[in-house]
Amino acid sequence: MERKSDISGFHELSPKKRLELVKAFAELTPEEAKALGKTGALDEKTADMMIENVVGTTELPFGIATNFLINGKDYLIPMVIEEPSVVAAASFAAKLARPAGGFTATSTPPVMIGQVQLVGVKNPEKAARDILAKKQQIIDYANEVDPCVLVKFGGGMRDIEARVIATPAGKMVIVHLLVDCRDAMGANAVNTLAETLSPMFEDISGGKTRLRIISNLADKRTAKSKAVWKKEDLEKASKGQFKGEDIVNGIIEAWAFAFSDPYRATTHNKGIMNGVDAVVIATGNDWRAVEAGAHAFASMRGRYGPLTKYSKDKDGNLVGEIEIPTAIGLVGGVTRTHPIAKVAVRILGVKNANELSEVIASVGLAQNFAALRALATEGIQKGHMRLHARNIAVMAGAEGKDVDIVAAKMVGEKRIRVDRAKEILEEIRK
Ligand code: MEV
Repeated sequence: MERKSDISGFHELSPKKRLELVKAFAELTPEEAKALGKTGALDEKTADMMIENVVGTTELPFGIATNFLINGKDYLIPMVIEEPSVVAAASFAAKLARPAGGFTATSTPPVMIGQVQLVGVKNPEKAARDILAKKQQIIDYANEVDPCVLVKFGGGMRDIEARVIATPAGKMVIVHLLVDCRDAMGANAVNTLAETLSPMFEDISGGKTRLRIISNLADKRTAKSKAVWKKEDLEKASKGQFKGEDIVNGIIEAWAFAFSDPYRATTHNKGIMNGVDAVVIATGNDWRAVEAGAHAFASMRGRYGPLTKYSKDKDGNLVGEIEIPTAIGLVGGVTRTHPIAKVAVRILGVKNANELSEVIASVGLAQNFAALRALATEGIQKGHMRLHARNIAVMAGAEGKDVDIVAAKMVGEKRIRVDRAKEILEEIRK
């Protein structure tokens, strides 16, 4: 087949027909095409309604982190991630936090920001003042028309901010709509409200609205979590290899490194997002929105920094804290249509989006604590290599007890490769 990507009417075909075309285009083997077209819990019809041009679905491991005690309630945490060690590390961190009471989490009301951009305004400063003078009138109107039925569920428009920004294309008036989205992530509601209200802003300012869209810097919708890790528990968990005080100091120094160096802060926050994203994905939420918001929030101090903070309490125990924006929801998105996301929410047993955001913040903190503890003591490669070696052993065909035998031998030899795993397997099976 000619390799031609301008396939007219591709979107009108069934997933199976599209797959046939892709198979021919990329010269896929029958096995490859079968693997791509095979669907699991997310059936073809549902997937085809979620996005465009579907040819199949893909899968990722769904793991459960244990030991989480958050605000006195026990949780099993669903985590969808391809990276080994993450689920184990979160479970380990949560276990070590339990003796001091686990995680204490809070969250703000679920307020998202919608931005309306006004250009061509003759007197931008006056227009911003005029918009603010009519604030209550606009809020009342928004809540009366309530196009996305937020008010009925206790949400709705809460406030309006207006400011003038100087840009390469001249001065602009930027209006922020502060919208309480309750259990929705809110993108649809906020975008609809921004479009609904934009003629009012044009009337008041005499300018023209251009962009009317949610801001993913959800700094009004954040969750905080805090935990204490006792120094004696840290020492015990290291099997006496490291002094508790040294572990506490090592973690605080690791945080301080991230605080003062964006190169380290990026990796520090990547570790936090290992946990955050895994829960966000498991529950069918928009992890790009959460990622974008988290990293922008990490820069709010004027320089990119860590999303967590560590200190010592009066007894020398480690106190960890996190605050992250949590643009997540339980209604109106994939959370309600993806069969596995629905199960994830059931496993969590969360009653509303705020509770979910507090769980997510706690998992982020746990993940970060686990990474810093390992990095500040024995390093992470030992644990990683063990898991990596297991994966390689499985890839080489090992099953059951053989997986651990092959993995241990490869780790011991520091040669973790499929060909070596196959050799070891042959030796065992002889
Ligand atoms: C790896 O996925 C995450 C870490 O690099 C995080 C960190 O360095 O803090 C281990």
